[in-house]
Amino acid sequence: MAHRSIFSEFGLGMPTIKVSTATRERLLRAARKVMKNAYAPFSNFRVGAAILTSKGQVFVGCNVENSSYGMTNCAERTAIFSAIAKHGPKLEIRAVAVANDHGVPCSPCGACRQVIYEFGPRAIVFYEGKKGAKQSLITDLLPEGFRLK
Ligand code: THU
Repeated sequence: MAHRSIFSEFGLGMPTIKVSTATRERLLRAARKVMKNAYAPFSNFRVGAAILTSKGQVFVGCNVENSSYGMTNCAERTAIFSAIAKHGPKLEIRAVAVANDHGVPCSPCGACRQVIYEFGPRAIVFYEGKKGAKQSLITDLLPEGFRLK
């Protein structure tokens, strides 16, 4: 398998991506930093996200709200779209870290779960609150994610 080094196998199940503590902390730090750029005058809930690609690159994003509320873009999707805008569509997400300024561990919304799944069907997601970060596989957050093929 091309990416064997970043996976660990558990029995016959899906290979799981391993992310070191140092990398997790680096991603969470980047998420906390970019959170400060959020445009969130309506909710006052600032969110930052950092994604780690299979090439080891990190991309960040924050939430961008709008007077027409439904046009709001979450931090996770901002980070993913920014990675694609920079390097094109061959994006493979290994991990996603999310932080907010309310100190609550807030996992990605349903729409963002589907977008994460598109580019990282084995991604691990870290979401940080005051008491530290929780973590889940995207497939646990989004069982039976949608695929066209
Ligand atoms: N939000 C995110 O950016 N990411 C999430 O995972 C959950 C929610 C944003 C959307 C909106 O700007 C604000 O948080 C409140 O819902």
